Amino acid sequence: MFGKRSTSSAGPAPRAERAPDPVPVRPEVAAPSGRAQTARPEPTPAGRGGGGQAPVKPEKKPVERPRSEEYYDVKTTVFNALIDTIDLTQLARLDADAAREEIRDIVSEIVAIKNVVMSIAEQEELLEDICNDVLGYGPLEPLLARDDIADIMVNGCDTTYIEVSGKIMPTSVRFVDNAQLMNICQRIVSQVGRRVDESSPICDARLPDGSRVNVIAPPLAIDGPTLTIRKFKRDRLTLDQLVKYGTITPEGLTLLAIIGRVRCNVIISGGTGSGKTTLLNCLTGYIENDERVITCEDSAELQLQQPHVVRLETRPPNLEGQGEITMRDLVKNCLRMRPDRIIVGEARGPEAFDLLQAMNTGHDGSMSTIHSNSPRECISRIESMILMGGYNLPARTIREMIVSSVDIIVQAQRLRDGSRKITHVTEVIGLEGDVVTLQDLFIYEMHGEDANGRITGRHRSTGIARPNFWDKARYFGEEKRLSEVLSSGEVLDEHGRPLGERFA
Ligand SMILES: Nc1ncnc2c1ncn2[C@@H]1O[C@H](COP(=O)(O)OP(=O)(O)O)[C@@H](O)[C@H]1O
Ligand SMILES: [Mg+2]
Repeated sequence: MFGKRSTSSAGPAPRAERAPDPVPVRPEVAAPSGRAQTARPEPTPAGRGGGGQAPVKPEKKPVERPRSEEYYDVKTTVFNALIDTIDLTQLARLDADAAREEIRDIVSEIVAIKNVVMSIAEQEELLEDICNDVLGYGPLEPLLARDDIADIMVNGCDTTYIEVSGKIMPTSVRFVDNAQLMNICQRIVSQVGRRVDESSPICDARLPDGSRVNVIAPPLAIDGPTLTIRKFKRDRLTLDQLVKYGTITPEGLTLLAIIGRVRCNVIISGGTGSGKTTLLNCLTGYIENDERVITCEDSAELQLQQPHVVRLETRPPNLEGQGEITMRDLVKNCLRMRPDRIIVGEARGPEAFDLLQAMNTGHDGSMSTIHSNSPRECISRIESMILMGGYNLPARTIREMIVSSVDIIVQAQRLRDGSRKITHVTEVIGLEGDVVTLQDLFIYEMHGEDANGRITGRHRSTGIARPNFWDKARYFGEEKRLSEVLSSGEVLDEHGRPLGERFA
């Protein structure tokens, strides 16, 4: 039906007449409480997501074992027999564990009746797979259960990649055919009230655990449904971990802490997966408890710890193309909600204008992320985003606006060895002629590569003694600490290497 592969019977064995067509019982089975309706992650600050997102929670086990065609044949036979036997409406009423037990009993019976020759271990595996198909997201479940995976990328039924520790690697995960994959995509997006098919082949959604999902289906995706999942991190990295991983040095961290506390307006700039959201989340840790914070996001990822937080989320248009609420709508509305700080998950379009206005009109300490590869590029991205809004402003006016709003740009980068670094903490100083002047306070200097292919380099302050935000720092009594971190130069570890390299 979708893509060429699903229709051709070119496979070596005539496998799977009928894809183990997952029955749409997941929402009921998954969330008897009805949580799946909204699919919003729990707002509890500490243990969000701790309640277990997937109804079927397979134990962590390696997924890297390829399976034979015979295995898939057996599975299809057993699966079809199961579907004929089981009362799905009954099943949907059970909780996940009970449903699993029920399936286990019936599958064992089927295996016995059909005389399928299988070891106990194989039978367990089959059972696991079938439960995942019936109750969950099929072959994706083992990947979803792993906490070490950052992204899951399914390129049609035969190819699935994952990103672990900053590196992309192939897996042996396979779907029966594109129809099964499409079915799972459909199941995912239907939980947020959307549909994906040939007539609306692009869809964003979210898993109940907060993971972000994008589906693009044929005919746009030529080789089959393509599913991309950015997994929700239950435990976002903390600042200490950033130091441990060499993303920043303790001095750099103190600098960021001061920047966050003294209410500088900050833009975090970086490429996809460079750690912008993680960094933004960390920076919000320095917001005082008595501030009213409003967050605007495309899909709620931030986990603020403060008591007084209002979380807003954009809404895509419905199936009739109506009812869309854009980031711009949210940011504008925010201004009427008496925020102390506005945190925008990611500025991608004309909302940049409203964000700058907010920064400029008494909401100091607002923060956002922007997709760009250097602080300099970040400035031109903001300019072009404002132009996208149709404002007919001269370039100089826009730049003046940027200069008077943004205090600091923090640049995040994923280096080619997979490590993530904060490469610049840069101040926006002013305008010289028509050019925005920037001043680096803290940078990462790349030196080269070691024998293991790891990037070597060091973080250091640039020796600026009095940054532009000195007065703000003084107002909050932070000037001493600020001058200490800026003048500390580089700190070496016990081997005489700069600290930032230790865990690189
Ligand atoms: N400093 C870091 N060191 C190691 N992993 C990181 C770091 N920052 C982020 N990550 C991981 O990288 C992935 C992408 O991070 P995220 O902040 O969502 O990126 P972005 O918002 O730039 O797309 C997440 O899985 C996150 O846990
Ligand atoms: Mg992000």
